[in-house]
Amino acid sequence: MRILSGIQPSGILHIGNYLGAMRQQIALQEEHEPIYLLVDLHAITVPQDPKLLRQNTLNAAAMYLALGLDPEKAILYVQSQLSEHAELAWILTTIASMGELERMTQFKEKGRGEERTKVGMGLFSYPLLMAADILLYKAQKVPIGDDQVQHLELARDIAKRFNQRFGDTFPIPDALLAESGARIMGLDDPTVKMSKSATSAYNYIALTDDADTVRNKIKKAVTDSGSEITYGNDKPALKNLLTIFSGVTNEKAETITERYAGKGYADFKTDLADALIAFLSPIQERYQHLLTDEQQLVDILHAGAERARPQAAHTLKEIKEKLGFVL
Ligand code: TYM
Repeated sequence: MRILSGIQPSGILHIGNYLGAMRQQIALQEEHEPIYLLVDLHAITVPQDPKLLRQNTLNAAAMYLALGLDPEKAILYVQSQLSEHAELAWILTTIASMGELERMTQFKEKGRGEERTKVGMGLFSYPLLMAADILLYKAQKVPIGDDQVQHLELARDIAKRFNQRFGDTFPIPDALLAESGARIMGLDDPTVKMSKSATSAYNYIALTDDADTVRNKIKKAVTDSGSEITYGNDKPALKNLLTIFSGVTNEKAETITERYAGKGYADFKTDLADALIAFLSPIQERYQHLLTDEQQLVDILHAGAERARPQAAHTLKEIKEKLGFVL
């Protein structure tokens, strides 16, 4: 079974990326040979400082490795290193309609009213590049967070349409959502998802945040009214904090709430911060160590691209034949 996912190397990675996507992605390497892409072609759909983009791409690779990705098992590479992604994305623009791309929530959020005419073409057609990533490897399972489900639905529609027009080619990919953590919310506002593009750093816990920063952010995290520590939809802020707590300790949310019977938010928050720090410190140590050898990271990414290349080339050739291109 082919498993594939991607992550944008466009800044910090946060605990939402980890609990919603990276954690299960890494676990899947034990039974499969998954492919994980650092999607720089996606990242440039909003302006990027070239030096930072390069560094962020290496940082994302180092973070995957620090979190436990084994490059002998999983294939990790930089999307732009295989031109097949961009080539297939173009072909898919001829199969998708403006209407279905306009319906994408992420695009709609970026461009309302007047602003809409200024939204970049890349941002508009971005879901087709994601569909190309998936279909290039005929992926069947796509481990992602909840916010990418709509994009995956589009990839499914495109795959079905392609199959109808040109004959059976692609399996229809399914989303693999984390049981818990598929949608981690902002610490400063539990009604919006935790996001690297949030205006306030108090929205997220970056995987690279140091102990003081973590303590400070958790202290400032919004909580719900009342003082009891319970897990439920009536307390969305607390529910989110408990999901994070449970995610980094592997304890059930109920087990955690039982410990705080009769105690208040202050104890809970202190312990949550400690749990996060205990979880993040060894990862950060490995991460810093990995970043001291840039060449090694570049070599791992090249090796990943070379392992993936034959299959990407094979699928694209098959598609070109089906379209009637002279080969
Ligand atoms: P990106 O880079 O925005 O996010 C990477 C992964 O992290 C998940 N995620 C979250 N999960 C839970 N809670 C959150 N607050 C949260 N924020 C982010 C995302 O759902 C995602 O799984 N378009 C994709 C990258 C991509 C891709 C692909 C994914 C490109 N090609 C092919 C799958 C297959 C994106 O921008 O993810």
